[in-house]
Amino acid sequence: MMETGGPGCGKGTQCEKIVKDFGFLHLSAGDLLREEVKKGTPVGLNCDKLMKEGKLVPVEVTLGLIEKAMTASGKSRFLIDGFPRAIDQAKAFEAKICRPDKVLFLECPKEVMEQRLLKRGESSGRSDDNQATIIKRFETFQKESMPVIGFYDGVDKNIVAKVSSVPPPNQVYEVVVSVLRNIPGLEVKA
Ligand code: AP5
Repeated sequence: MMETGGPGCGKGTQCEKIVKDFGFLHLSAGDLLREEVKKGTPVGLNCDKLMKEGKLVPVEVTLGLIEKAMTASGKSRFLIDGFPRAIDQAKAFEAKICRPDKVLFLECPKEVMEQRLLKRGESSGRSDDNQATIIKRFETFQKESMPVIGFYDGVDKNIVAKVSSVPPPNQVYEVVVSVLRNIPGLEVKA
């Protein structure tokens, strides 16, 4: 399963809750990239630059990191957060790995996401939680990530589930759970 949505819409917050109740391994594209940045590799340095500019990292880098983490985990059910963010990523994932059984899209107005990110930026230490980068992240989201929803709708109308992430986290999660319960064969933890 994949989870997507604009910057600061609450993807990480909902993923934390989902993994507690359902048998998924959570892989966050942003977290995998930040780990690569910390390693200080040439690839990591380039990612750092792109992330500070609010741009997307090349598909071969993100997909490569996700694929590596999937293989290393030995698990079979994945919750991939922040991916795909562009149509080329969706197509590459389908070609190399599989079609997701569900794409959860968290809908949130830009003004709400902006306030959340600016608030988080007071303490997150994230180099992209500042006003200038946030504006660029929104631009990238609109231009590159939004078309992904249309792509999946064109493949199969049942893949995308849209959930508003404006209410408080627990209320959002209640709706998320109702979506997850309709995924065939999904194991629910006791
Ligand atoms: P990434 O780390 O994925 O950042 P993002 O998409 O901008 O999202 P965030 O992690 O900032 O927010 P979130 O939606 O997880 O919200 P959260 O739960 O934290 O990506 C960073 C960068 O990496 C990208 O810009 C790009 O450069 C690169 N990258 C990542 N993926 C890539 C890919 N696939 N391809 C290429 N490049 C890629 O919540 C935010 C705040 O709001 C928190 O403080 C939280 O407590 C609060 N909050 C959450 N939910 C609620 C709620 N319901 N009500 C009130 N507050 C809430």
